[in-house]
Amino acid sequence: MEVIIVKNSAEMGKKAAALIAEEIKRKPDALLALSTGSSPVGTYQELIRLHQEEGLDFSRIRALNMDEYVGLNRMHPQGYYYFMEHLLYQKVNIDKANTFGPQAAEGNLEEEARKFDEKIEQEGGIDLILLGIGRDGHIAFNMPAEKLDFATHVQELSELTIRDNARFFDSMDQVPTKAMTIGIQNIFKSKKVVLIAEGINKSEIMERFINSETLDTKIPATILKLHADITVILDEAAAAKLEKQNR
Ligand code: GLP
Repeated sequence: MEVIIVKNSAEMGKKAAALIAEEIKRKPDALLALSTGSSPVGTYQELIRLHQEEGLDFSRIRALNMDEYVGLNRMHPQGYYYFMEHLLYQKVNIDKANTFGPQAAEGNLEEEARKFDEKIEQEGGIDLILLGIGRDGHIAFNMPAEKLDFATHVQELSELTIRDNARFFDSMDQVPTKAMTIGIQNIFKSKKVVLIAEGINKSEIMERFINSETLDTKIPATILKLHADITVILDEAAAAKLEKQNR
């Protein structure tokens, strides 16, 4: 596991975008799994800059969202599809037909979850996954639990996560309590993993994650420690609790 500590959020975005750009150049039709939340915003801004100023070409790139709140459709401003659409897809030359995500708005969600995994398999699996991390160690919406689901599934969100996500909604009662998330298997099968964390709020979980030597389903991210190709990028604030030897 490569751990890179950078000065601030802007530097983190540049570093993560550089890894994604490298993958796009290596494989112009790569399948990217993209994360939402605050952490990747700088990465997307830098990818847009690389597209506009250096001609980074997304025309054959395929991209997926790895989770979606249950009950929100593709047009909902707090939905994750809308997020990706506005923060990245509309600003680069990606073909919208090559983007997809879990359909969690309505209908038979079990069936939709199965279709999402099938689609990933048909597309040949994820080449690069950009992950954030929750303060409790969740990845995508795989929450701490006794057991972690391999497959895409509907997940009840923890109190902490609901509270953390409330900042994006007008009031607490609007925050969805369930989400459909990619499972652990497709995350782990991604050929390359880039995990990003910024801010003092993430310092405790980053210390636990980086120093963990056991697979702990109560910190779902620990599974990534077994991955053969993972780069962790954190800013100085998120690295505040790490011992000097980790730096
Ligand atoms: C949500 C998302 C995750 C994201 C996490 C952290 O739970 N489902 O994909 O990694 O939030 O978000 P932030 O970067 O805003 O702290």
